[in-house]
Amino acid sequence: MAEKTDGVEVSEAQIASHWKEEDLIHPSISFIGQANMANPKIREHFSSDNFPESFRLYADLLDWDQYWHTTLDSSEPPFFKWFVGGKLNASYNCVDRHLAKHGNKVAFTWVSEIEGEPDRVISYRELWVMVNEFAALLKDFAGVKTGDRVTLHMPMVLELPVTMLALARLGVTHSQVFGGFSGAACGDRIVDSDSHVLITSDAYYRSGQLLDHKIKADEAVVQAEKGGVKVDKVLVWQRYAAKASSPTPMVEGRDYFVNDLLSDYRGQRVDPVSLPADHPLFLMYTSGTTAKPKGCQHSTGGYLAYAAGTSKFYQDIHPEDVYWCMADIGWITGHSYIVYGPLSVAASSVLFEGVPNYPDPGRPWRIAERLGVNIFHTAPTTIRMLRKAGPDEPAKYDYHFKHMTTVGEPIEPEVWRWYYDVVGKGEAAIVDTYWQTETGGFIGTTLPALEPMKPGSCGPGALGIVPVILDEDGNKIEPGSGKAGNICMSNPWPGRMQTIYGDPERFVDTYYAKYAKSDSKDWRDWPYVTGDGGTQGADGYLRVVGRVDDVINVAGHRLGTKELESAALTVEAVSEAAAVPAFDELKGRVPEMYVSLKPGFGADSGVDEQVRQAISQIIGPIARPSHVWVTSDLPKTRSGKIMRRVIASISNFIDVGDTTTLSNPEIVEEIQRQVQTAKVGLGKIPQGVPQEVIQEIMRFGEEK
Ligand code: WT7
Repeated sequence: MAEKTDGVEVSEAQIASHWKEEDLIHPSISFIGQANMANPKIREHFSSDNFPESFRLYADLLDWDQYWHTTLDSSEPPFFKWFVGGKLNASYNCVDRHLAKHGNKVAFTWVSEIEGEPDRVISYRELWVMVNEFAALLKDFAGVKTGDRVTLHMPMVLELPVTMLALARLGVTHSQVFGGFSGAACGDRIVDSDSHVLITSDAYYRSGQLLDHKIKADEAVVQAEKGGVKVDKVLVWQRYAAKASSPTPMVEGRDYFVNDLLSDYRGQRVDPVSLPADHPLFLMYTSGTTAKPKGCQHSTGGYLAYAAGTSKFYQDIHPEDVYWCMADIGWITGHSYIVYGPLSVAASSVLFEGVPNYPDPGRPWRIAERLGVNIFHTAPTTIRMLRKAGPDEPAKYDYHFKHMTTVGEPIEPEVWRWYYDVVGKGEAAIVDTYWQTETGGFIGTTLPALEPMKPGSCGPGALGIVPVILDEDGNKIEPGSGKAGNICMSNPWPGRMQTIYGDPERFVDTYYAKYAKSDSKDWRDWPYVTGDGGTQGADGYLRVVGRVDDVINVAGHRLGTKELESAALTVEAVSEAAAVPAFDELKGRVPEMYVSLKPGFGADSGVDEQVRQAISQIIGPIARPSHVWVTSDLPKTRSGKIMRRVIASISNFIDVGDTTTLSNPEIVEEIQRQVQTAKVGLGKIPQGVPQEVIQEIMRFGEEK
C-alpha cells in the first residue's frame, strides 16, 4: 500500500481508482419474502419526474390532524418546507395512535448494564401513561410551553424517550446532549438554545461503574450562567426511584427529583398540541469547522415522515419484530432509529444502558438470544471491537438476525464480512446506512430486499434522493469514473434539517454556499454539500472516503478540530494547538494534539496531561486525545496558518509531501524525529493505514 503514498502528487482520483470492486451479495429469499418494501418498481415511483410528490408515501405513514396542501414549498432556497399546511403531533404519532391496536404490545425492553438486574418492559399503554404524566408535570410544575426549548442531558434510560415524547406532546423543542459529554459542553448548548429547564439523571452504569451524573448538571448550570442564561429548574430522574445514587447534593429551590413530584400527576392526561409540520421538534448539536457546535434544527412533519418511512422500508421493522439499535439516544441515530422512527411504526425495541463489551464481548449476543432480537443496528467501531475481543462469541448463542445495520463511518470490507458471516450467521441482510445529524435519516443505502449489498459501499442514494459527486469547480464527476470528489445531494428531502438554530447564515454557508447559484430560486441550483469526500461506482453505489472539512470522525462521532484546539488553548502554558486525526484500528480515527508553549513554560511541566484533562472536561472523555505532543513550534504557511496535513502525516507515518511553502520547513524534521521516535518506542506504529485514510489525511486542514 505504501508505494501509493509517495507524496502529494498522488491525486484523489488515482487513489480512488486503486480500490478493488467487491462482489455483490444478494439477500436471502426468505428475507425478500417478508420485506416491507419488495416492490421492484419503487425506484420509478421515486424518480425525479415524481418529485416531490413521491414523498407522500412517507407522510402517509403518519396521522395528520390536518392534511397538508403543498408537499414542498421551495420558494426560498435553501429553506425548504415540507407538507405545508399540515398539522400533527409527534408524541401522538409515536404513542397514542398505537393504543387501539398495539396498546398491550411492548414498546421498550430496557436492559440494565448489570446483568442480574431485571429488565424494565413497558407496553405502548404504559408509555402513554408515563408520557402524559410527565407532560402534565412539565406544563404545570416546570412551566414550559409550546415554542420553548428544553435541554436534556440524560443517559440510556427509559425516561429519556419518555421525556422527549412528553416535550414533543407540548410542542416544546428538546435538545438532548449526549450523556457522556461534560457539564460544560451541556452548559454551552443550554446557552445556545436559550433553555431555562434542564432535565437530567442522577446516575448510570458504564462498564460496571455507577457514575455520578448529577454533578454534571451543577457544572452545566454554572457554565450556562457564564454565558448569560439562567437555568430555573433542574429536574432529576433517578436511576433507582426514591433511592440516592449520586453523592451530589440537590440545590434547594432549583433541583427536584422527578419521582417526588410525579405522584401529584398520577392519572393526568395532556392533549397533544396540534402543530404545523414545520414546528421544530428538536435540536441536535454537532461539530463543524468552527469551535461552536451547530444546533441542527429538525421539523415535526418532514422529519417524522422521513424517520418513519426509512424505519419501515430500510430497517424493515414490522410490528412483530424485535428491534435493537445499540446507539445512544444522545446522537442522531438514537433520535431517528430508537425513538421517532421505530415508535412511529409501532416497533418493539430494546434499550440498552451499557457498553457492548461489559462484562464480556458475549453480552450483546446473550441479550439478542434472550429477547429474540431479529433486527440489529450498530456502528463499525463496535463491530471492530467485538470482533477483536470475541471473534467466536456470536456462534455460542442461539439468536437469528434477519436484518443488520452498520452506520456512522466507512466499514472495511473485511470487517463487513465478519459482521455478515459471524454476527449475521450468513442469514441477515445488511444495510450500510450513510447519513448525518443534518440529514435526519438515511441518504445513502441499499433497499435491503431489492438491491444487493456491496461490502464497503453504502449503496445508491436513498429513495427520492439523487446524490451527485462534484469536483472543486462544481462539475459533475461521472459515476464509474473512479474519481473522488465532494458528495452532494442534488435535491431536497423531508428529513433534512431546517436550519442551524439561531444562525441561518451559517446554515447556508456550511451546506450550500460552495455550489449554489445564490440568486436562483430553483432548488436544482442548490445542491446540499455533505462535507464528505467519496466516489460513485457505475452502478450508482457510493463509497464514502471521509470528511473533507476539519472534522475528525472518532468511532462515528464528530469532533471539530477547532473545538479540540480551543479546549487545549485554555491550558495556561499552551500558545498554539493543532488537532489531527490518527488512524486507529478500532475507532477509525483518534484525535492527536500538537501544542507549542508560551515562553517561560517547559515541556516537562505536565502540559500534556493538562491538555488531556482540559479536553475531557470541556468536551467529554470521548474527545480525549490519544497523544499530546509538545513541540517547539508548529509547521506554518507563510500566511501563518498551521499546516495540519503535515503533522497529521507525521502522526500516521505517511509521507509529509511538499513542505516548500512553509515558513519554517526545518521544524518538520524535528517534529518527525520527536513524534515517530516516541511512537516507535511505544510500539505504536500504525499498521495497514487504508488508502482512504491516507487520502483524508493528505487533504486535512487544507486551505479552502
Ligand atoms: C458523518 C456524519 C449518521 C449517524 C451517525 C453519525 C460519516 C455516517 C456513514 C456510512 C461512511 C459514514 C460521514 C458523515 N458516516 N455514516 N454508512 N459510511 N461514512 O452522524 O455524527 O452527524 O456524522 O459520519 O462522514 O458525514 P454524524
